[in-house]
Amino acid sequence: MSDQIYLSPPHMGVLELQYVEQAFTSNWLAPVGPHLDRFEREVCTYVDQSAALALNSGTSALHLALKLADIRPGDYVLCSSLTFAASANPIVYQGGIPVFVDSEPESWNMSPDALRTACEMVLSLGHRPKAVVIVHLYGHSARMDELMRICEHYELIVIEDAAEALGTKYKGRSCGTMGRYGIYSFNGNKLITTTAGGMLVSADEGDIEKAKYWATQAKSPLPYYHHTEIGFNYRMSNVLAGIGRGQLAVIESRIQARRSIHQRYKHSLANIPGVQFINESRDERATNWLTVTLLDREVSGVTPEEMMAALAEDHIESRRVWKPLHMQPIYQDCLYVPHHREFSVSEKWFNEGICLPSGSNLSAEEQERVINRLYEQLQARSSAIHS
Ligand SMILES: Cc1ncc(COP(=O)(O)O)c(C=O)c1O
Repeated sequence: MSDQIYLSPPHMGVLELQYVEQAFTSNWLAPVGPHLDRFEREVCTYVDQSAALALNSGTSALHLALKLADIRPGDYVLCSSLTFAASANPIVYQGGIPVFVDSEPESWNMSPDALRTACEMVLSLGHRPKAVVIVHLYGHSARMDELMRICEHYELIVIEDAAEALGTKYKGRSCGTMGRYGIYSFNGNKLITTTAGGMLVSADEGDIEKAKYWATQAKSPLPYYHHTEIGFNYRMSNVLAGIGRGQLAVIESRIQARRSIHQRYKHSLANIPGVQFINESRDERATNWLTVTLLDREVSGVTPEEMMAALAEDHIESRRVWKPLHMQPIYQDCLYVPHHREFSVSEKWFNEGICLPSGSNLSAEEQERVINRLYEQLQARSSAIHS
């Protein structure tokens, strides 16, 4: 019973090692090579987008998207608050000013009402908001139709942070392909991984070429080293792209596994008072990268911290929901717009949410162990408060 269960560990298939071996035998052990080109083309085909650039992280992909959006010092950029710090940090790399936007209660993603208010607030300060980073959290799509209408009205450049949502569809379209730029992460805990890595996608092939130039130290195409701009060392290696190709070949089965895991959690626990899950909307095909549950302390009698401690006793890893960025010391002086004046959705989700083991290689027995532990705790606590 003491085998560790991880939150979202890597899940390798059979092709990854073959592709890595190919890279070794052909000596393409550099940030250039056939796997890299093919991985980019295969991701384009998978998400139905024209151009892609494989990079060493999702964070560097976001940085290049913001640079393509010409974010300069003093520019205002709106950003989801309920997310990982990497969604907003590249705004600051560019000298931009982040304005944080709350979530709405259904998708947990950016609230259209709060986005509109945030745009008006920036305008009332005498500035034009320039871009927005819309995050698709935990494998669920934001409400893109409503958000895109607002973005068009305020002429915002849309960057989709789909780091957690490769494979998620909104009205049949892939998350990451509806804005001007989209990014994915292949970090070790993601749905598919290259150990570390990311991808920038866009319909604009010229922009992707420009990003490639910046990502490779901005070397001018001359027979000697010549630089007219500051560049970055952001490219993915051909070896890791080989891992990515192997992973992409099995992505749909990984998604089906995570969706089934989510269904089993819901089926076993959703009827317990005080326990709630994010529901898939009619407009999306969620991947359920992580299954998240909300524990209403008043009703369930248990806090996320207590539940995490109980799971950890049984060697089960779980995590709190992202601490909203407007609550982070580093961003506490930034503007923040809640969903409603008296109700901050992201703060509630942070206070009540817990991410459960969701890896596509989680066995049915392991999941049963997690469910039993959750169930025991919920039963014990709720009988304690109702006795
Ligand atoms: C929402 C979100 N944005 C950005 C990132 C950054 O991606 P990476 O770790 O590949 O830099 C991550 C995760 O790691 C993430 O979850």
